[in-house]
Amino acid sequence: MIYLDNAATTVRKPDTVAEAMVKALQGWGNSSRGVHDTSLQAARGIYSARCKAAAFFGCRRPDHVAFASNITESLNVAISGLLRPGDRAITTALEHNSVLRPLYRLQDEQRLDLAIVPADSQGCLDYKSLEEALRQETKAVICTHASNLTGNVVDLRRVSELAHKSGALLIADCAQTAGTRPVDMEDLGIDVLCFTGHKGLLGPQGTGGLCAREGLNWRPFKVGGTGVQSYSRTQPQLMPTVLEAGTLNGPGIAGLSAALDYISSVGLDKIAQRESELTQRFYSGVRDIQGVTVYGDFSRERAAVVALNIADLDSGAVADVLAEDYGIAVRAGAHCAPLMHKALGTQERGAVRFSFSWFTEDAEIDAAVLAVREIAERT
Ligand code: ALA
Repeated sequence: MIYLDNAATTVRKPDTVAEAMVKALQGWGNSSRGVHDTSLQAARGIYSARCKAAAFFGCRRPDHVAFASNITESLNVAISGLLRPGDRAITTALEHNSVLRPLYRLQDEQRLDLAIVPADSQGCLDYKSLEEALRQETKAVICTHASNLTGNVVDLRRVSELAHKSGALLIADCAQTAGTRPVDMEDLGIDVLCFTGHKGLLGPQGTGGLCAREGLNWRPFKVGGTGVQSYSRTQPQLMPTVLEAGTLNGPGIAGLSAALDYISSVGLDKIAQRESELTQRFYSGVRDIQGVTVYGDFSRERAAVVALNIADLDSGAVADVLAEDYGIAVRAGAHCAPLMHKALGTQERGAVRFSFSWFTEDAEIDAAVLAVREIAERT
């Protein structure tokens, strides 16, 4: 199998990830629930992972890294935790449903005043519209760092400057960029950085979280056991406990911690460079094939994602042929990104998305280009 669905999840992981998970599975107790050795092992392992994530994402305080089961959860925690009834929020047409649905729910149930900034037909964010939307009092801008459909990267520094000028927070969805390029919350002006562990970070599924700046007023998305302040009727307000009710995914976090070590040992710049080369290699191979339409802006910085269609074929049918006849794994359909498909005009048939990782080989790219060419030639 040639695996080119890394924007959905990476399958090839460093061996140390599984090794760390097995060790935690067989040795760790419940973090923050005891003073015996197994509980302390878990607490130390998880704290070490917080320190690594904080350093990785430029978060000043390790205790402001809160873990979650995936980025959908961390985006829900951030959105529902910081927006109050009647607030105004702004998001964009590039977003995944993990941003849109929590916002639509607040719009329907809590009178959230929601504005959605459009994108052009290449999927690029309209910064001018963002600036105009921010004229009114806004609590938060919730924005992806890179579209999971086109791979277009958003200039988050520009977004944060605009947001902060009008007193709004920036909540960033870094699902497609964490682990594939440097993402530093101080440098980019991100107030809450949401990440997932199982994509570019090369960790296990079931992991993710957020890094928050100090001083935010959190309303916890979920409440429950914390191992501390057990006689309090309410969730302790201290970070990260306020956002982490229930037993954490110790083995998953151990795997994520090992993955962060791996990425640091390779070097993020090297990974970004390699993914950019792979993307360019694929794009150069397919862009001039007759009948192929490639979506997105290839003149700027981008994530390692290329979405295309072939002639008037349905994207699902193309993905089936790629899997069945060529052994190539891609993602077709709507990619949980309804507004982006609307902007690209691909609502009806979706698009075929190829996405690459540090472990993708040049020969795999070349085989995928050849497959696209052959499918295009016989239509
Ligand atoms: N959000 C993931 C994707 O884009 C699952 O495929």
